[in-house]
Amino acid sequence: MNTQSSNGDLHGTVALITGGGQGMGLAIVEELLKNDAHVSLIDISEEIGNNAIHELEIKYKSSSSNRLLFIKCDVTNEIEFEDSFKKTIEQFGKINIVVNNAGIMTKYLTSWELAIDLNYKAVVRGTILGLKYIENKVDKNSAVINVASIVGLSNTVMPIYQSTKRAVIDFTKSIGCPFNSKATGNNVRVMAICPGATFDGFENNIEVKNALKLEIEELITSGEETPNPNRILIIQSTDYYKAAFLYVLKNGKNGDIWIAENEQPPRLAHFSIQY
Ligand SMILES: NC(=O)c1ccc[n+]([C@@H]2O[C@H](COP(=O)([O-])OP(=O)(O)OC[C@H]3O[C@@H](n4cnc5c(N)ncnc54)[C@H](O)[C@@H]3O)[C@@H](O)[C@H]2O)c1
Repeated sequence: MNTQSSNGDLHGTVALITGGGQGMGLAIVEELLKNDAHVSLIDISEEIGNNAIHELEIKYKSSSSNRLLFIKCDVTNEIEFEDSFKKTIEQFGKINIVVNNAGIMTKYLTSWELAIDLNYKAVVRGTILGLKYIENKVDKNSAVINVASIVGLSNTVMPIYQSTKRAVIDFTKSIGCPFNSKATGNNVRVMAICPGATFDGFENNIEVKNALKLEIEELITSGEETPNPNRILIIQSTDYYKAAFLYVLKNGKNGDIWIAENEQPPRLAHFSIQY
């Protein structure tokens, strides 16, 4: 997928990205900047956030400095989180896109309360705030995008991580369904994206990449009643994820759940079993 080109398609658009200081959140911050958006980077870590801003300003020179804002904020703190929306509007005048990206991966029951607060509760709150502050009109450049995981669609051995990600998927699917958008009069799309394993920096370290792949494979497949022999797991770089993200932003519909894994173009998840 070619992610190098940018067409300035998001000129004048304002995006707020939680957990935007590193990893996949930072990749989305960069992609939106490249496409001419204004970006509010939210992160709990001052150091991570400031480093990210510094590097982006060097990379994109002055073209980005007036389009980029770092707000130190813990999204599990209700007041701080809403303040970050207000500060973004003070600085840029509006918000069009909210990406609820901040999250932690937990094994077994480690940090379970934090994981529920961050991976689920803050995503619900971020969605509610998004619907409060994004102008309520049909607009292909406006959306709330919740970052779930393919783990939320799988039967893994990560009880808290899996269940919080599945909860994000179910919440998004339900709040964005036609019945609810009609009942609430909401025209802003709420969608979720389920990335597969996505990490950068393994170009010169294939052994570490292979070890990580085996570890993820074990965590993801060990809970399957009937393991799928055709299941593939490729650790993709954020380049693939960025391209998938932009596709979902441009083409997704309210309530959509998109899968972005294995260096493939994004595809819709389907939920056919109904009880
Ligand atoms: N990396 C993957 O392979 C993968 C795959 C599927 C889904 N995901 C999901 O994608 C999202 C990003 O993952 P990542 O691997 O880039 O994570 P990461 O740990 O590299 O980055 C997370 C960022 O969020 C920030 N953060 C943590 N707690 C916060 C809080 N309370 N308030 C504000 N910011 C906070 C951190 O400081 C950090 O900058 C997560 O929701 C994760 O579950 C990741």
